[in-house]
Amino acid sequence: MSQPRDHWSSRAGFVLAAAGSAIGLGNLWKFPYIAWENDGGAFVLVYLVCIALVGLPIMLGEILLGRRSQKSAVGAIKEAAGKNWGFVGGLGVFTGFVILGYYAVIAGWGLRNFVMCLGWTLNGFPAQADLAGEFGLFLADWKAQFVTTVLFMAATVFVVLRGIGKGIESVSRRLMPLLMGILLLVLASALSMEGAGEALQFVFAPNFGELDINGVLEALGHSFFTLSLGMGAMITYGSYMGRDESIIRSSLVVVVLDTLIALVAAVAMFSVIFSVAGLQDQLGRSSVGMLFITLPSLFYNHVPLGSLLAPLFYILVSFAALTSTISILEVVAAYFIDERGMTRPRAVALTGGGTLILSVLCSLSLGAWGPISNFEIFPGKAGLLSTLDHLASNWLLPVGGLLTTIIVGWVLSAAITKGELVDDNTPTWFRYDLWRLVMRYVVPVAVGAIIIAVILGRDFS
Ligand code: PHE
Repeated sequence: MSQPRDHWSSRAGFVLAAAGSAIGLGNLWKFPYIAWENDGGAFVLVYLVCIALVGLPIMLGEILLGRRSQKSAVGAIKEAAGKNWGFVGGLGVFTGFVILGYYAVIAGWGLRNFVMCLGWTLNGFPAQADLAGEFGLFLADWKAQFVTTVLFMAATVFVVLRGIGKGIESVSRRLMPLLMGILLLVLASALSMEGAGEALQFVFAPNFGELDINGVLEALGHSFFTLSLGMGAMITYGSYMGRDESIIRSSLVVVVLDTLIALVAAVAMFSVIFSVAGLQDQLGRSSVGMLFITLPSLFYNHVPLGSLLAPLFYILVSFAALTSTISILEVVAAYFIDERGMTRPRAVALTGGGTLILSVLCSLSLGAWGPISNFEIFPGKAGLLSTLDHLASNWLLPVGGLLTTIIVGWVLSAAITKGELVDDNTPTWFRYDLWRLVMRYVVPVAVGAIIIAVILGRDFS
């Protein structure tokens, strides 16, 4: 507690770091495949409504908790609602530990595909590649899993060790523009393909006949994950923010960027898929492997300038994942710094080491090591990685989000939240009363519905 608190070094610092946290595998990997699974159009529209009506209001709530207290998740919540609510912050820290455990493994696959594509670009695309088979072998190969996961965790620890301004902010400041540049190149190339029209239609033309209630709930659940809500990441990042910045403007930029990137990723991927005759039927309705298995060969065989774009694209995936993993590790490390008085190096070593162990276990749970690959707590979710993903997406984030909403909407007084949100920097279109109404009634009902759906057996992971 004796150390002075690190802050973002500029106004853009918070926005870039928070956008970096939000934009990640959720946008590039998960959104396209759940949009595909749910037949596009209507699902996308519902997702946009969830982002605006649930995601954005909660983000304002989380950031205000952090900025007001200048403390990370546990301290911020204790200060807002009293000691008895501290467990909500603790739940967030635990959720961060769980998510990082498996997220780092999937992020490592991005590195693997980068190296693989670089090889193909330099040496030529293999004539008879069995990519699905090879990916299966990669998942079951303990050395490959171990190496990619450890590399990714090491990069994460390295950044967080350097702190807020010099670590997280400076990495986000460099990587985010690069990421957007590469994604625009990929989009331009994909849009030049003949399937682009069909892809745009698929994503943007709603057909409500195709959407069921499960799709609505899935959209709602994903809006938490993609905006890094429900586990204290935005509380923690908000705690490094000064009072001279508008929470509303910054949040809006983050939410809009996150949404745009998800849409661009989906349009680009579907443009390629619709351009290849027969592929659509082959993929069927569910394609978790779209990003890691289907796409690489398409780059080389169909996408204009694909052999140049493929390695760039997978390095983009890794960058996007890195700016997310650093935000998760920061939540966990900041708890030990703020609440346990540890120095940053000690806290990062402890939490980085702990999550490294968990993530290595996850990386071995895809076939490499029998006992942790085969057990099943949740039906149909065999192995540690799938179990943790299920636990976080279905239970921890929605419950964390609901409790945070209750604290901000019901426990904190209107005078306090108004004081944080409404000042000279507040945009004129912002309606405080409407936000409070949404936080008190709309969000709890919507999120409560997800949790009830999960209790009744729905699965969002
Ligand atoms: N928002 C990140 C993504 O879309 C994942 C994430 C979840 C990051 C929770 C931080 C906290 O990939």
